[in-house]
Amino acid sequence: MDFVIEGGEFVALIGPSGCGKSTLLNILAGLEEPDHGEVLVGGSGDRLGQLTLMPQSDALLPWRTVLENVAAGPAMAGSNSEAGQQQAMAVLEEFGLRGFEDHYPHALSGGMRQRVALARAVLGGARYWLLDEPFGALDAFTRTHLQRFVSEAWRRHEPTVVLVTHDLDEALLLADRVLVSSNRPGRIIAQVSTDLPRPRTPEMTTYPEFAAYKRELMEHLFASGAFA
Ligand SMILES: Nc1ncnc2c1ncn2[C@@H]1O[C@H](COP(=O)(O)OP(=O)(O)OP(=O)(O)O)[C@@H](O)[C@H]1O
Ligand SMILES: [Mg+2]
Repeated sequence: MDFVIEGGEFVALIGPSGCGKSTLLNILAGLEEPDHGEVLVGGSGDRLGQLTLMPQSDALLPWRTVLENVAAGPAMAGSNSEAGQQQAMAVLEEFGLRGFEDHYPHALSGGMRQRVALARAVLGGARYWLLDEPFGALDAFTRTHLQRFVSEAWRRHEPTVVLVTHDLDEALLLADRVLVSSNRPGRIIAQVSTDLPRPRTPEMTTYPEFAAYKRELMEHLFASGAFA
């Protein structure tokens, strides 16, 4: 795989199950070493602390409250704890979690837990967000709701985002560009840039130009062997 992502760009990656999407995100995050090749961020291989990876499971610490989970962000980014807590409260507000700061993860819904995980990613201060099917396990309404949070957080905090998803609507609603991978071993076989206006709304999925993009992605996915 060989591709360039511009700073501040929102890129989605789709492709057949097992083609290596999660592996690629882990390599980007520095959690796995590639057999060949390199990852450069701003021309340098050093990217420690600049990236945050949000896995499909929200990976919250069950023994910590919402506030403590979220405050793990600024703690890791090096701010002192009082300022960190204030920042954390502001971000909890932004993600509609005010009033739940003392709850434990088990007492929250799946969508709320993913919002805590997003809040933590925002607070960590990472400029690069790697999102691995973050909403795959959620129902359609909750997913739509969270897509709006991601979209707004992206606009407000201006990170560079790579989102892995199986949901073509999600890819087109959130991203500027969609990369399509072939079956294993994954290769980028197509890229579709969209010029759908922002802010994007769920109704846009019914627009003819949206359907045209979706059709194009499906054709590439057919070619990729995703439906074989
Ligand atoms: N190019 C590759 N080279 C070596 N191993 C690969 C490659 N692509 C995938 N694999 C292996 O295939 C397995 C599945 O890969 P991975 O979990 O990244 O797939 P995925 O695209 O995220 O699938 P899913 O959509 O089901 O989550 C892993 O064990 C991974 O090590
Ligand atoms: Mg995966």
